[in-house]
Amino acid sequence: MLRRSFLYLSNQSWLRHWMENSSLSSKFVSRFIAGRRLDEAIQVMTKLRRENMDTSLDFLGENVTSLDEATASLDSYLGTLAAIRASLLPATVSVKLTQLGLDFSAEACRNNVSQLVEQAAAMNTRVEIDMESSEYTDRTLDLICAMFERFPKAVRAVIQAYLYRSEADIRRMNSLGIPVRLCKGAYRESPKVAFALKSEVDRNYVKLMRLLLEEGADPAIASHDERILSDAQLYIHERRISADRFEFQMLYGIRRDLQKRLIADGFRLRLYVPYGDAWYPYFMRRLAERPANVLFIARNLLRS
Ligand code: FDA
Repeated sequence: MLRRSFLYLSNQSWLRHWMENSSLSSKFVSRFIAGRRLDEAIQVMTKLRRENMDTSLDFLGENVTSLDEATASLDSYLGTLAAIRASLLPATVSVKLTQLGLDFSAEACRNNVSQLVEQAAAMNTRVEIDMESSEYTDRTLDLICAMFERFPKAVRAVIQAYLYRSEADIRRMNSLGIPVRLCKGAYRESPKVAFALKSEVDRNYVKLMRLLLEEGADPAIASHDERILSDAQLYIHERRISADRFEFQMLYGIRRDLQKRLIADGFRLRLYVPYGDAWYPYFMRRLAERPANVLFIARNLLRS
């Protein structure tokens, strides 16, 4: 119920405008957002590298309202890649297709993604294409397949364990050799397309994770769920899967205890590091995942 309410609020533009412009917001968003500016994100990335963590930088923004905005997002991402190159650190970028114009023109979006992936390929890094709500799944995967044909080392797809279709999608990606990040899924979906119960999503996650660990190309296991992480570690141990065949991924600011534990145990870990002004929808999805975060916000506001 609370999850659905936060996801509903994440689409309310009046609240978004007020929150993103409120002077109080920096008090609580900094836990999840690396900063408003690229140089702040680069500082966080550098600090995390000293702790042996890799990163994927996300310039926040989704569902842009014009193709001009999509072009501006592309320019920001090209700037992010240039800053990564200058830092000499092994970071990727994560991007949403609606940020690069998918709601307006499939062709313009494809051109934008193509420029980004080409630049990433030239730097020997990767564009991780986030997965949004299920109305975009087919278009997103088709575009990734097209990019993979031209730049085979420079893209990664995201598959959401809550969708019924995901096993078939993972088998398709595995057969093509396309790397996949597996997550549970963060959007409001109908029971017609997605498991409604958390227990069902978790069960499907474990099934898909094992499929990826067995057959996937450089998969990323993206979760903060301790039971899932333990299952992954047990499975890897039993099947003697080498630690350089996959990576774990987590979100910046969430479960730092688990992040440190994975590094101490010798696993590769990449943190998803968001930055920018358009933080509201991302932030609301984090509240939806864990409504107790509201208490954390309230405490910060009371202290201010
Ligand atoms: P679950 O929600 O069951 O949480 C397990 C535990 O983790 C909780 O008990 C709590 O301790 C902690 N936790 C989880 N979320 C928290 C939060 N917000 N605040 C504090 N603690 C929290 N989704 C999507 O639809 N498309 C995408 O492209 C991506 N990309 C992506 C990248 C990466 C690197 C990650 C880690 C996640 C995503 N996601 C995503 C989000 C994902 O779908 C999912 O919503 C969250 O990861 C939460 O699910 P968990 O697997 O952590 O399990």
